[in-house]
Amino acid sequence: MATHATHHHHRSFLLRFLPFLTLLLLSAADDSDVMLKLLSSLSPAPSGWSSSTPFCNWNSVRCDFTSSFVTAINLSSTGISGTLPPEVNQLSQLQFLALQKNSLTGPLPSFGNMTSLQQIYLDNNGFSSVPNNFLVGLINLQTFSISDNINLGPWEIPTYLTESRNLVAFYASNANITGIIPDIFGSFPNLQNLRLSYNNLTGSLPGSFSGSEIQNLWLNNQRVGLSGRIDVLASMTQLAQVWLHANAFSGAIPDFSNCKNLFDLQLRDNRFTGVLPPSLMNLPKLLNITLQNNKFQGPYPLFPITVSVIMGTTDSFCLDRPGPCDPQVSTLLDVAGALGYPMSLAESWGGNNACQDWRFINCDSLGRNVTIVNMGRQGFSGSISPAFANLTSLKNLVLNDNNLTGMIPPLLTTLPELQIFYVSNNNLSGPIPVFPPSVKFMYDGNLLLGRNDRESSGGGSGGAPGTSPGNGDGSSSRTSGQSNSVGIIAGVIVVVVVFVGVVLFVLYKCYVKRKHKRVGRVEESQRQGNSDHSEIPVFKGGNVMISIQVLRQATNNFSKENVLGRGGFGVVYKGELHGGTKIAVKRMETGATGIKGMKEFQAEIAVLTKVRHRHLVALLGYCINGNERLLVYEYMPQGTLGQHLFQWQELCYQPLTWKQRLIIALDVARGVEYLHSLAQQSFIHRDLKPSNILLSDDMRAKVADFGLVKNAPDGNYSVETRLAGTFGYLAPEYTATGRVTTKVDVYAFGVVLMEIITGRKAVDETVSEERSHLVTWFRMVLINKDNLRKSIDPILDPDDETYESICKVVSLASRCTVRKPTQRPDMGHVVSILGPLAERWKPSKPEEDDAYGMDRHMSLRQRWQADEEITLSAELWRPRTF
Ligand SMILES: Nc1ncnc2c1ncn2[C@@H]1O[C@H](COP(=O)(O)OP(=O)(O)O)[C@@H](O)[C@H]1O
Ligand SMILES: *[C@@H]1O[C@H](CO)[C@@H](O)[C@H](O)[C@H]1NC(C)=O
Ligand SMILES: *[C@@H]1O[C@H](CO)[C@@H](O)[C@H](O)[C@H]1NC(C)=O
Ligand SMILES: *[C@@H]1O[C@H](CO)[C@@H](O)[C@H](O)[C@H]1NC(C)=O
Ligand SMILES: *[C@@H]1O[C@H](CO)[C@@H](O)[C@H](O)[C@H]1NC(C)=O
Ligand SMILES: *[C@@H]1O[C@H](CO)[C@@H](O)[C@H](O)[C@H]1NC(C)=O
Ligand SMILES: *[C@@H]1O[C@H](CO)[C@@H](O)[C@H](O)[C@H]1NC(C)=O
Ligand SMILES: *[C@@H]1O[C@H](CO)[C@@H](O)[C@H](O)[C@H]1NC(C)=O
Ligand SMILES: *[C@@H]1O[C@H](CO)[C@@H](O)[C@H](O)[C@H]1NC(C)=O
Repeated sequence: MATHATHHHHRSFLLRFLPFLTLLLLSAADDSDVMLKLLSSLSPAPSGWSSSTPFCNWNSVRCDFTSSFVTAINLSSTGISGTLPPEVNQLSQLQFLALQKNSLTGPLPSFGNMTSLQQIYLDNNGFSSVPNNFLVGLINLQTFSISDNINLGPWEIPTYLTESRNLVAFYASNANITGIIPDIFGSFPNLQNLRLSYNNLTGSLPGSFSGSEIQNLWLNNQRVGLSGRIDVLASMTQLAQVWLHANAFSGAIPDFSNCKNLFDLQLRDNRFTGVLPPSLMNLPKLLNITLQNNKFQGPYPLFPITVSVIMGTTDSFCLDRPGPCDPQVSTLLDVAGALGYPMSLAESWGGNNACQDWRFINCDSLGRNVTIVNMGRQGFSGSISPAFANLTSLKNLVLNDNNLTGMIPPLLTTLPELQIFYVSNNNLSGPIPVFPPSVKFMYDGNLLLGRNDRESSGGGSGGAPGTSPGNGDGSSSRTSGQSNSVGIIAGVIVVVVVFVGVVLFVLYKCYVKRKHKRVGRVEESQRQGNSDHSEIPVFKGGNVMISIQVLRQATNNFSKENVLGRGGFGVVYKGELHGGTKIAVKRMETGATGIKGMKEFQAEIAVLTKVRHRHLVALLGYCINGNERLLVYEYMPQGTLGQHLFQWQELCYQPLTWKQRLIIALDVARGVEYLHSLAQQSFIHRDLKPSNILLSDDMRAKVADFGLVKNAPDGNYSVETRLAGTFGYLAPEYTATGRVTTKVDVYAFGVVLMEIITGRKAVDETVSEERSHLVTWFRMVLINKDNLRKSIDPILDPDDETYESICKVVSLASRCTVRKPTQRPDMGHVVSILGPLAERWKPSKPEEDDAYGMDRHMSLRQRWQADEEITLSAELWRPRTF
């Protein structure tokens, strides 16, 4: 073929390329040169490979019938290192190349034009770069795997891949891919597996996913995050496993009802909003779904018992249990839906009372009915929902200067109280509705509105602002009045039917759920029984009574050497059970501590047996011995955050890095968020401070000391007669009025953040009075931003990136400690701020994926599964190729 081509060329050209041509011809005669080259660049030499034997006899090498050409090489998991010579691409008959799970390094060769190649496995190596035209012209390529090559320089998914029309599987997770997912998926009629997790892909899902046959789609954990809506997935009818978690996807979840094989849908840790479509709860094959850390709205979803669901605490569902939303809330969610569920609404429109601090909404003086909706100049696109017509008390509807399209729903003319309707400067179209004269209707700046209408000139003139009450007897509306009212009646009928249907459906679902719940609970307690330490006898429902003998033995008879610390109500000892489990034993004497100590003991047991979270210190059991009360906790080997912040020099600790501080802060926030958001009974810690934050060997934090925890009476506050807690961390409203809400913890958390930033104690008696109260001092410092650098813990000595991160935490700390409790963020918000900051500093190792938070909606069974999932997904991670 080469000689044929040169016929047409000039002789000098031929001469110039002669060496190259001979090489080509030589190699065409036989693959031995290339194979020898390959052999010499691998070390150690693969077993059975030797220059003294013909290459077709080497282990794991297959040749064609002429014994001149290699067709397959399999060096999978053979412990080889070295590089791949560029000449590999001269193996013209090679169909199968498996080099995965070795220690190969260096640049990858180009596989361009290796038209026989069907399968390439390069995963789990240390290759350093991908050449241009890497996979160009691979017309027979079926499987390509390059996952887990973390040393690769950044590369993009090439668009010429469209030449590989037979592609079945493309595995490239954890391979430093950047750029977008190119819009090339119309070219792969057989593509089933696309795995691109743990890269730095950005942009949105390509339109050509539509109609693709992909079954297994992994796009999770992109560094910056894929974004945009995921509607295109609804048309991918073969989807079975879809991992989208830890990205920046937004918008609502589409109707997946055409994806009948979908069994695993990971949506957590994105920016999804909107009401979950009922079809999601009815997917026939669904087994696993995660939803947490999004901003879902509307009714709390109710999945069949067969589905393992993980829900979050930061969503804006109207209730924390299944059931229909308040009608006014449903109406406004329809409004939000017509706007594509924008994030700004999802963030503020939570709960089941639209009159409670919803952005853009005002209500009547009783706080019952919405009277004003003011969403002007918000950059909203989408349409005006006819559901507005349900807000019968609405007086002002202001939607000007957005990007709204579609028609103005004629039903709006029926709003009895409407006074102002302002939609100027949008892209609305269709007829101009006729409002009663009492309505001031402004609609200029909508070029398409009423274009077929004769009266399109009258922008802003729709009615006099002066009220001409009820009897205007709209002669202008009489022409179209009849058809209008027929429409309205039909609309109302439809609406009523739908409503009744929804109510019946929800009632039915509630009934089913209640039945399931009972079953679930039985499973829970059984599981608990089985999973407890064998050394410790099981006591009622999983709480564990431990004998004093066991504790004496474990703590060397409460010897001095075993003392870990002293708290307000007793001494804490280190101990070790027979099985080697390290414990911390808090020993209190009722004589010494009186009733208060008893109360703490009981409170702590009561709380700790109800809560369980990876960022709360676990209670392993307790013991009552005469006047003694003992609590047994998991042992936290690195002591308290206080020690690491303020006493690291005396105790010979390494000072905490900023990264460690961030992760600790996030851990604590997650623990407290969990306490605050427990479904049945939410708790307030009331004594959050660095000495109650304990650290594990890998410097992950758990919140401890639940002696002061209070039940949060839902939504309300309780008034305390006696103050509890620690000076320096007490929220002002609490000291002033005894009002306790979850915001008391948010305040204390803010103080802890300040301590983390400055390395100074909340109250420091050793300095002058005006500096001794950290919050006051810090606020003063912040008045001039230039002071900030000086107030940061000097040991941190931040570089620019760290400084930027610190500034964000400074601003969070300030917000957490504002005077008015209602202006403080909730812990969910705190988590959502700290999460990305801490994430940025973490290595991108998939095993360390920690976006995972146990939460209120998980039964013990689910928690179990979640623990398993962590190991499981790490395991699944390595593409199982052979
Ligand atoms: N689970 C634990 N693991 C290791 N050390 C602990 C544990 N619990 C408490 N400690 C140590 O014992 C000290 C006293 O604990 P505690 O009585 O809870 O403190 P306080 O009453 O001051 O909040 C702590 O400051 C800590 O150093
Ligand atoms: C490749 O080699 C590995 C290890 O020897 C073996 O497990 C695997 O089955 C081989 N694959 C093929 C397709 O021959
Ligand atoms: C593949 O072949 C084409 C045409 O034969 C040639 O232009 C191109 O350079 C080759 N690409 C590689 C990477 O070898
Ligand atoms: C990926 O590419 C970036 C940009 O060149 C580089 O900084 C990084 O070290 C590469 N590797 C990984 C594992 O991210
Ligand atoms: C990830 O991609 C973004 C946008 O393409 C880029 O700005 C950023 O530097 C990349 N990060 C890494 C670590 O490669
Ligand atoms: C409007 O209200 C009616 C009656 O309360 C209800 O059936 C219907 O679902 C509501 N429509 C919307 C869009 O909220
Ligand atoms: C609030 O709305 C309800 C239902 O639409 C209506 O019955 C009631 O009269 C309204 N209340 C006020 C004060 O307008
Ligand atoms: C308005 O919407 C149109 C069509 O959806 C879009 O092309 C345009 O960019 C939007 N304009 C603004 C200002 O958002
Ligand atoms: C569902 O998730 C659990 C852990 O959360 C895992 O054990 C199980 O294998 C998953 N099921 C499927 C079908 O992926």
